[in-house]
Amino acid sequence: MVNVTVGSDDVMGYHGPALVVAVPADEAPLDGAATQVDGALDGLLSRLRAEGEVKGKVGETMVLHTMGRLPAARVILAGIGNPAMLGVADLRRAAANAARAARKAGLSAFASTLYGTERHGAMAAQALAEGTMMGLYRFDGYHKTDIGQVQEARILAAGQDRAAVEEGVRRGRALAAGVTLARDLINEPPNVLTPTELARRAQGLAAAHGLEAEVLDRAAMQELGMAALLGVAEGSDEPPAFIVLRYGGNAGQDAGNGVKPALVGKGITFDSGGISIKPAENMHQMKGDMGGAAAVLGAMRAIAGLQPAVAVTALVPTTENLLGGRAQTPGDIVRALNGVTVEIINTDAEGRLVLADALSYAVREGLGPLVDVATLTGAASVALGPHYTGVFANDDAVADGVLAAAARAGEKMWRLPLDPAFEEQIKSDVADIKNSAGRQGGAITAAMFLQHFVDDKPWAHLDIAPTSWSDKDEGEQTKGGSGAAVRTLVAYVEGLAHAER
Ligand code: BES
Ligand code: MN
Ligand code: ZN
Repeated sequence: MVNVTVGSDDVMGYHGPALVVAVPADEAPLDGAATQVDGALDGLLSRLRAEGEVKGKVGETMVLHTMGRLPAARVILAGIGNPAMLGVADLRRAAANAARAARKAGLSAFASTLYGTERHGAMAAQALAEGTMMGLYRFDGYHKTDIGQVQEARILAAGQDRAAVEEGVRRGRALAAGVTLARDLINEPPNVLTPTELARRAQGLAAAHGLEAEVLDRAAMQELGMAALLGVAEGSDEPPAFIVLRYGGNAGQDAGNGVKPALVGKGITFDSGGISIKPAENMHQMKGDMGGAAAVLGAMRAIAGLQPAVAVTALVPTTENLLGGRAQTPGDIVRALNGVTVEIINTDAEGRLVLADALSYAVREGLGPLVDVATLTGAASVALGPHYTGVFANDDAVADGVLAAAARAGEKMWRLPLDPAFEEQIKSDVADIKNSAGRQGGAITAAMFLQHFVDDKPWAHLDIAPTSWSDKDEGEQTKGGSGAAVRTLVAYVEGLAHAER
């Protein structure tokens, strides 16, 4: 992973392989660093802008050699759009693309002056660190040959408040490390990342970062009555697990306001659909069906680094969903931990089953607010397209808290309805509810199903099926597991730590 550092050198003091400077759009004036570069290069930047070869659009990059006119061997121009409208999301994206341009040029280090204006302080520095680390992410542990990677990215604080820059970089690093963990977990192949291995990694995470870990095995789950989760596990020879991680809040206290948030993540390490088997095309992507678990574990890693003053519990029900002689079949009825009985209509609607027991467990533990994250339904992607996570909530304060956190984190999320009108669709003739309700409103009926397991706890459900996987490298997004919801969960928890209630 790239090492993001803070340096105080200015344009004339940096002697490394490449200096990143911001180029604004719409004929806006260059900032101090870009002006100096332009001067040293006899007006090359101005010329490129005047000719329209560099437009300064957000995410645009160009690598130039300095031919000895600057101590840096190259300059990387990074478009930031109109500075009057510049937000941290634009900076994050610009930083990510600039970092990838450096890597594409084969460079092992660069330094960045990419602030857009002279004084953006901690928020800008955080966006630069996040963008750089997220943009350079690559899952390459299984390639035969080592492919080149940027080793050091220095964020130059010249002209900035050094302490603010350091603080922003520290936050950006913690958040990007959480996203990196989530992406790694999603990208790991399912023969490596079994439920047992996911539990092992969660325990490793806890040991390394001062969290408490507990893993319930099949016998412990049987004892408790988690038959919904265990039913999904019946088709697999790999044992299931129920992972509990606890962060105590800095100095061991909660926020003093009675909030005990639980983050719950769907951990299906491979979803074949079970007896209601999926089509073969793209089935390999179902190794990513633990994207919710990955988001929750990634968030816990960042939380351990940032130390907010609120105790947080992470719950991860994990199993494979496979086929076999003992596999769950359509028509089965299972009784979840909270006593609600479920008729299995479709064994491919397994996520809501494992979440049913996890949410029931959270309620039993007296936790709340509850936030679950799951690659739950293809229907969420049909409804929202590939950019938005679907948000459902039984409580406006939780919904607003999550959406505000998403906005601060720069993750796109959109609230969809929970409405008793949909209850009819999940009624069963032979059990309390059924696990599949047909094609109409599939993301909503899945959320309605989950609501049967949260009692009266304030709760939000994040359906990340649309966003957990990216098809291309663009900005801070990289191909494969995206780490969607990690930064939102952290921002939400931090919001609780500051809240009054
Ligand atoms: N893991 C899938 C949902 C999914 C699909 C996530 C594509 C990411 C990409 C989930 O377990 C599932 O199979 N859902 C079914 C539910 C249906 C059977 C009621 C679906 O969406 O088709
Ligand atoms: Mn499924
Ligand atoms: Zn699934």
